[in-house]
Amino acid sequence: MGKFRIEGGIPLQGEIRIGGAKNAVLPILAATVLYPGITCIHDCPKIMDVLTMIRILESIGCKIKWEDRTLIVDTSTACNTEIPADLVSEMRSSIILLGSILGRFGKIKISYPGGCSIGPRPIDLHLKALKKMGVQIEEYHGYITCKVKQLHGEKIHLDFPSVGATENIMLAAILAKGRTIIYNPAKEPEIVDLQNFLNQMGATIRGAGSHIITIEGESKLSSIEYTVIPDRIITGTYLVAAAISGGEVLLSNVQPKHLYAVISKLRETGCIIKEDKNYIYIQSPSKLQSVGTIRTYPHPGFPTDMQAQMMALLAVAQGTSIISENIFESRYKHAEELIRMGAHIQLEGRIAIITGVNKLMGTTVHAEDLRGGAALILAGLCAEGETLVYNSKHIERGYECIDKDLQSLGARIQKIKEEQ
Ligand code: UD1
Repeated sequence: MGKFRIEGGIPLQGEIRIGGAKNAVLPILAATVLYPGITCIHDCPKIMDVLTMIRILESIGCKIKWEDRTLIVDTSTACNTEIPADLVSEMRSSIILLGSILGRFGKIKISYPGGCSIGPRPIDLHLKALKKMGVQIEEYHGYITCKVKQLHGEKIHLDFPSVGATENIMLAAILAKGRTIIYNPAKEPEIVDLQNFLNQMGATIRGAGSHIITIEGESKLSSIEYTVIPDRIITGTYLVAAAISGGEVLLSNVQPKHLYAVISKLRETGCIIKEDKNYIYIQSPSKLQSVGTIRTYPHPGFPTDMQAQMMALLAVAQGTSIISENIFESRYKHAEELIRMGAHIQLEGRIAIITGVNKLMGTTVHAEDLRGGAALILAGLCAEGETLVYNSKHIERGYECIDKDLQSLGARIQKIKEEQ
């Protein structure tokens, strides 16, 4: 695996345009399977997870090509309903193919996605909902085999507003017989984007972003072109990059309303933030301040996907801050690496107590997961001397060119390939 080398101490300055959101593109790519024809998706990020989803779609017979940043997906030739296990293990969110492949073909065989470095990733809510919609499910030797003659609409109450489960139910409901109502669905902006995409295709869905989503079944779908929403987590990561480096940055093609929880916490650290419809400007204060408590919650709460980056920032903020991670069980692998860089962080179960230090020290650290890896790069931006972040592959799952983006703002960061 490659690594990133960062020389800290440069205040970032400049402007970056944010591209399409990974977590919006993935379910939309899964949704293309529902319509046997061509769909064009604009502003797709060329990141590992999207490339893996493309390989999965190709493995079931779809034809896909890139035209600049547009993906042209032809699903008319799809015929295979077994998803290769090696691709599922590369990307656990491939489980969102359950709903659309069942909707189109009435069967699917997929390996059980299992846990990952941020904790167990159960799919009980997905399976329980699909069973209610008429699917017969068998689980054996690490595989899930699902079959259904005709999916039917249902009233489904989610015990937890799971993003993936909400997406799978929406996708399964599009061609099902009758109406599906999801109570307590996820309200993330990516759910709203999936609704907008499907409605443009011809579906009738309402309520995404609220506490009830209603999907009318048996939709007549058609070929469309669609532009995905900008990536709110990359936006948040670059806001923290500006803040932690003592810089001043303008981010364009963003939707500030998707980031209110993050913007509000950054303001508490003393950052000056101005938002317009599609822009966010941030200016770091002379000394960052601690923020009391950050609790990760489903949207519109503070996103778990910004917890690691915020921890890096709080590690150099004056005073003591507390983070309570309420979504994933063991999402603190980055804390141990930040401690190696000189951060004062105490971990007690799901709680992290962070007492800001004046300086972090560059050293060798390892990315264990996507956002935790990004947090280590951010820490490197303000650390004294050189930081080497190993396992760049994890970071590249969600950031297309974090090195080039940060370089364009003046950062001294380089990607070093494995063999060098
Ligand atoms: C999605 C995002 C991920 C983000 C997460 C939470 C994508 C591709 N990924 O992941 O970046 O961190 O939302 O915002 O969009 N759970 C169950 N049973 C289930 C499903 C989930 O117990 O059947 C639990 C999970 O273990 C976890 C919590 O619910 O503790 C949230 O998971 P979920 O919202 O499903 O996250 P993902 O869709 O996997």
